[in-house]
Amino acid sequence: MLVNAKQVLAAASREGYAVGHFNINNLETIQAIMSGATAKKSPVILAVSKSAIKYAGLDNLVALVRLAAQKADIPVILNLDHGPSVELARECIDAGFTNVMIDTSGLPYADNVAATREVVAYAHERGVSVEAEIGALAGTEDNISVAEQDARYTKVEEAVSFVADTGIDSLAIAIGTAHGVYKGEPRLDFDRLLAIHQAIPETPLVLHGSSGVPAESLREAIKRGIAKINIDTDLRQAFLRTINAKMNAEPESVDLRAILGAGREAIQHTIEAKIDIFGSAGRA
Ligand code: 13P
Repeated sequence: MLVNAKQVLAAASREGYAVGHFNINNLETIQAIMSGATAKKSPVILAVSKSAIKYAGLDNLVALVRLAAQKADIPVILNLDHGPSVELARECIDAGFTNVMIDTSGLPYADNVAATREVVAYAHERGVSVEAEIGALAGTEDNISVAEQDARYTKVEEAVSFVADTGIDSLAIAIGTAHGVYKGEPRLDFDRLLAIHQAIPETPLVLHGSSGVPAESLREAIKRGIAKINIDTDLRQAFLRTINAKMNAEPESVDLRAILGAGREAIQHTIEAKIDIFGSAGRA
């Protein structure tokens, strides 16, 4: 069933696990994520970025997710990932999304608050929950790049005021993760995370850029207040590596379904492994 993120993330926060947020782009990614989450009896968040909308079409993605969620026996959240504008957030809410992230974190504080408040008002009237971000992650997400030197960790006071000023349901924070592929081992600022969590214990915290972060670090982050974990790159890599290997092993093959099917299976395995790390198995 399709639900908003409020109860699902509140339960995760309360009971000390995290819900996986996985990016979708096409039929195969949706099927793989749904199969993995269903096998693990876990709630799941299917996330759509602006680029995914451009690639696959908003109506197509919504129809596929709605159908998949209807057939599944687990809570499913359809989320806009890094919504760059109030307009796109509204469009997604109107199309049937159950959670939206408005990401105007690159704007000055007052403008970030104003845009986020506007989305919160529109979303809450329609039973949709809202995530927003304060601070800046390094890396490239949805074709937007932030250089390492421009990344800015979230400050405790600014997290507190941002949540109070906007009325958001969950908060994405910058504590050392980055979008995309890591060059070295990511080092997370766990003290900062715990301080933010203790200052706003009722607000589920979100970790973006979680692909390539070691399992122990993810577990530690969950212990210190992370309730939602975003994964995209790990899924892309599992899919692409697998179909690459299959095509190299069978260069004459024209069996499109066998090739894409192998990629789909690789994503499903990745989803199941992540859900085991996040502790959300059996929580549906
Ligand atoms: P990764 O690039 O680490 O998978 O991060 C994805 C993400 O944070 C989507 O919002």
